[in-house]
Amino acid sequence: MFAKKSVELLQQDASEFNTPSLERSLGLFALIALGIGSIVGVGIFVITGQVAANYTGPSIVLSFVLAALGCACVGLCYAEFASLIPVAGSAYTYAYATLGELLAWIVGWDLALEYLLSASTVSVGWSGYLVSLLHDVGITLPPKLSQAPCNLPAMGLVGLMTGLLVMGIRKSTQFNNIIVVVKLVAIFLFIGFGIFCISPQNWLPFIPENTGEFGVFGWSGVVRGSGIIFFAYIGFDALATVTQEAYKPQRDIPIAMLVSLLISTILYIGVALVLTGIVPYKLLNVPDPIAVGVNAMGIRFVWLRLVVKIAAIAGLSSVVLVSLMAQARVLYSMGKDGLLPALFTQVHPQFKTPYVATIISGAIAMVLAGVLPLEVLAELVSIGTLLAFLIVVIAVLVLRHTQPDLHRPFRTPFAPWIPLLGALISGGQMLSFSLNSWLRLLGWLLIGLIIYFAYGRTQSVLYRTNKQVTEPVKE
Ligand code: ALA
Repeated sequence: MFAKKSVELLQQDASEFNTPSLERSLGLFALIALGIGSIVGVGIFVITGQVAANYTGPSIVLSFVLAALGCACVGLCYAEFASLIPVAGSAYTYAYATLGELLAWIVGWDLALEYLLSASTVSVGWSGYLVSLLHDVGITLPPKLSQAPCNLPAMGLVGLMTGLLVMGIRKSTQFNNIIVVVKLVAIFLFIGFGIFCISPQNWLPFIPENTGEFGVFGWSGVVRGSGIIFFAYIGFDALATVTQEAYKPQRDIPIAMLVSLLISTILYIGVALVLTGIVPYKLLNVPDPIAVGVNAMGIRFVWLRLVVKIAAIAGLSSVVLVSLMAQARVLYSMGKDGLLPALFTQVHPQFKTPYVATIISGAIAMVLAGVLPLEVLAELVSIGTLLAFLIVVIAVLVLRHTQPDLHRPFRTPFAPWIPLLGALISGGQMLSFSLNSWLRLLGWLLIGLIIYFAYGRTQSVLYRTNKQVTEPVKE
């Protein structure tokens, strides 16, 4: 249970001699695009408005800064690991190397909350934008077929993205590159034209007075807002799951993670400033706040409304794509280690993708997207991701202590302070979640533990290898 997979063994796993059959095809540009593709989504296109209207007002800008600070600390820790252990499993693999098999399993299981559920969450958000765009052009989809428990557009999107992922990482990333350009152009247009429509009195007071309830405006609102808006930053870590498909993972993955995080932060702050500058924040509690912002810019910008909706629809689909991509690769790694059946490690002979893991992930995400509402899903995604983040920063500290001399191509600066700050912010944000979210998280982890003790513990490659060494075959 506490056995660790040594860093040397992991590095050997990743080396060419082990013929990893996943295809190496990702350069720095594709990786940065993948990062942005998976970060910029429902958070900025939907949740921003709700946070500004209910908790922060214009000071949502500060919430974005606080959440970015936490993510930057965690991102630096991820970057250290990604440069050290270029294997497909992300936080799961890092935990295996430092904290032992049981915790690694828990992280791997927990990552499903992040990747699988965010694919479902974002497709539900996508379906909302699609319904609204179709409505604008005179086509009305019946709510019975486009909302939980029968959200057909959301299910269709997951099916489509799964198919694309099976067909190859090259095709998937080409699709992602185009989408990222579309969504960046739309956001730049919104910021660029929106700046000229700002009425500075909308920013006053910048931090509206607290209502007397913790977290509803005032400084406590900024903190609560940062916990919710954290969702907008989820996704940079997905890059750690494709290390085995990058040309130069040790150099490019850390750079791509930090650059995509930085670009997203700048965009988010720009959008938040412009949006709260053109619309009184109380009017932003809508499913399409950016479109409401464009409306407020006047009749001259009616065309931009269409551009924003199309960009949101395109942009959200890339978040689904990369989340499913990440999920399949975590399952692939867990299968390789014997913690899941070998089925998950099957690579398509022609497309070179972990197609069984991809199809299974897609099928589960599709069912969840069809039946569950957005809010429940989004909270679970955030709390699950924060737990994974917390374990990664702890793992960095543990490995610095236990193996200080390992060659680390990238080192988290100012350790242990940066990892500690990352742990403090992630832990603090976890505490801001409701009891219900905590209970759902614990329930999920409990199911994971049962599966581990019923299957993984005795099937794991590490366990079986150790057993062979300690119990030689009897004559
Ligand atoms: N960060 C991603 C989004 O906002 C999950 O949709």
